[in-house]
Amino acid sequence: MPLATAPAPTYPLADYKPLSNEALHERIAAVRRDWGKRLLILGHHYQQDEVIALADLRGDSLQLSQMAAASEDCQAIVFCGVHFMAETADILANRPEKVAERGGERIPVILPDMAAGCSMADMAAIEQVESCWDELGEVIDTADITPVTYINSAASLKAFCGKHDGIVCTSSNAKAVLDWAFARTKRVLFFPDQHLGRNTARAMGVPLAQMPVWNPHGDELGGNTEEQIRDSRVLLWQGHCSVHQMFTRAHVDLFREKHPGIKILVHPECPMEVFDAADLSGSTGKIIRIIDEAPPGSKWAIGTELHLVNRLKHEHPEQEIHFLSPVVCMCATMYRIDLAHLCWSLENLAAGTPVNIIEVDPDTAHWATVALERMLAMKAN
Ligand code: 13P
Ligand code: SF4
Repeated sequence: MPLATAPAPTYPLADYKPLSNEALHERIAAVRRDWGKRLLILGHHYQQDEVIALADLRGDSLQLSQMAAASEDCQAIVFCGVHFMAETADILANRPEKVAERGGERIPVILPDMAAGCSMADMAAIEQVESCWDELGEVIDTADITPVTYINSAASLKAFCGKHDGIVCTSSNAKAVLDWAFARTKRVLFFPDQHLGRNTARAMGVPLAQMPVWNPHGDELGGNTEEQIRDSRVLLWQGHCSVHQMFTRAHVDLFREKHPGIKILVHPECPMEVFDAADLSGSTGKIIRIIDEAPPGSKWAIGTELHLVNRLKHEHPEQEIHFLSPVVCMCATMYRIDLAHLCWSLENLAAGTPVNIIEVDPDTAHWATVALERMLAMKAN
């Protein structure tokens, strides 16, 4: 059953703000001890260290959605990530067959701070995608387009893909997803991250000239001509990650000049000129695996979110690890999840007055599941 209007919290957030991290850590640990396996705290790799230390499981976007899909014993999920991740966890943990197995019980999925959104996800609204689809239909046959949404998107966009024979991808499986799409249709509409779409499709041999960018705020046809649309293979939505777009080609050149022999390792959300100049690329999960497996003395400049790079530096003193930018590139929204919010949400959960429950409406969840399950059925790149 969906949750009725939530009761008022037992404990106000303001009470937690003055507490020290040590005190908060202790109190969070106490709730974890009491709840045991009934509580699952998931943490994305970009979270701050204090939060990661208290997560039961950590992962990249693909791993976290797999964990939510597989969750069996828990009675509540607290998601230390951003809004779209908590939505995905709710959709997968509360599939109708799972709820039926639990005798009708839903697992509440809690986002400790509702303001933890994603600026990239906000760059594609469902109304914009629908009107793009309608406009495209006036020029080409939409039956020959597979819509692909990066998991960093609202549930409504995932549902759009479910309804239109499309699919979800993450940075771990974007190539496999594009292979799947091209086996079905001639074209792909890829949203919201133009960089992941472009970097992946180019590596597969799609020429840039066949990847027009759709500007949702632009003129007709997203600022493209009918000819460009007819000639397209991948239509790229004009969205980006505000963190990864800050890495530049000049940063890569500077590191190569100053540190001969250094290897550049970047996330595929980085712009094309950075991606092209790098030695290696991959999702956050893959970046971690590459560093874990590298021999002592390896030298790296890594282009992804600051907290993860700093953690890798700390965990691998036997390697020389640099952050691939002189400026701070951190995910400000992910950073909103701090120990005060985590403790506040856990103690209210334990008191029977859970706060910040993310619940996707059943119709959206149904269609989003269709697109998510297509993705979960395939292997990573
Ligand atoms: P991955 O978790 O797929 O590496 O994506 C990084 C990211 O930006 C998450 O918001
Ligand atoms: Fe969104 Fe970028 Fe933050 Fe990921 S790192 S949550 S894509 S803003």
